[in-house]
Amino acid sequence: MTMNITGKTAVYGVIGDPIEHSLSPTLQNAAFQALNVDCVFLAFHVLPSGVEDVLRGMRGLGIRGLNVTMPHKNAVIAHLDEVDETAQFLGSVNTILNDDGKLRGFSTDGTGAHRALEENGVDLAGKKLVLLGAGGAAKAIAYTLAQEVSELVLLNRTPQKLDSLAEAVNQKFHKKVTVASTPPNTIQESLKDADILVNATNVGMYPNTAQSLVAAEWIKPDLAVMDIVYNPLETKLAKDAKAAGARVISGVEMLIYQGAASFELWTGKPAPVEVMRNAAITQLHR
Ligand SMILES: NC(=O)c1ccc[n+]([C@@H]2O[C@H](COP(=O)([O-])OP(=O)(O)OC[C@H]3O[C@@H](n4cnc5c(N)ncnc54)[C@H](OP(=O)(O)O)[C@@H]3O)[C@@H](O)[C@H]2O)c1
Repeated sequence: MTMNITGKTAVYGVIGDPIEHSLSPTLQNAAFQALNVDCVFLAFHVLPSGVEDVLRGMRGLGIRGLNVTMPHKNAVIAHLDEVDETAQFLGSVNTILNDDGKLRGFSTDGTGAHRALEENGVDLAGKKLVLLGAGGAAKAIAYTLAQEVSELVLLNRTPQKLDSLAEAVNQKFHKKVTVASTPPNTIQESLKDADILVNATNVGMYPNTAQSLVAAEWIKPDLAVMDIVYNPLETKLAKDAKAAGARVISGVEMLIYQGAASFELWTGKPAPVEVMRNAAITQLHR
């Protein structure tokens, strides 16, 4: 990859700890190059003690945009000038825009999941969603998709983590929300009349690639299944869903669309999604 860095090159980046496996530089630099914009995207290893300095530096150096990954998604909020409603509710920011010195925070995980489903032909309106997990990604997905689906079943090994989210979703969007733990019979029962299943737990992620919370025989052909785990590229759940004849949406799709949403916030231009997809898949195959 050759880049022509000039005196006018705008700098973007991602902060996290650890950071060296982040796919954001691959995705965003591919997008900048495809649109021929004079921008570069770098990964910065930042310890929790360095977050405040980074944001002061962002203003001082005129860094135009940052992605924020673990463990800083919550800590950055205290140092921003403005946080959008979704990020505020989730207590989690993954994208910062430097708007002429004003630092504005957003969360694009939910948007990424929403666009991944929609662009892959999954209609959300009036549907029943079963969502596994209660981590940062699961909460963002639940909050965004609750605005369209008619019913949510939120299942987590530790269901107490979902209580406040379920209450807020119910009050704000007036949707039917059920919260429960993840014993096999609960998952099986929930899936009987479900339209969409999203796995937002770590289960199935490398190195535990033989694991899935969902038995193959519970998956009906008319279910849409998205496993947000993207390492491996095809999880056990995705393989089982494909074998059952279900529509399968890969975790890479969410990864691409959350990156695309960040790109669009920073540049105001439509993201070159196909270029980002090819770059991500090539990198993940390495
Ligand atoms: N595709 C994308 O764009 C994208 C974006 C963000 C994250 N992800 C992936 O999504 C996954 C979750 O990320 P996160 O940031 O939300 O993580 P997180 O905040 O650490 O949450 C992990 C979730 O997985 C559950 N879990 C972990 N091990 C489990 C097990 N053995 N059995 C049952 N449940 C288990 C946890 O349950 P407890 O609450 O009971 O501990 C919790 O709900 C990761 O694999 C991450 O790489 C993908």
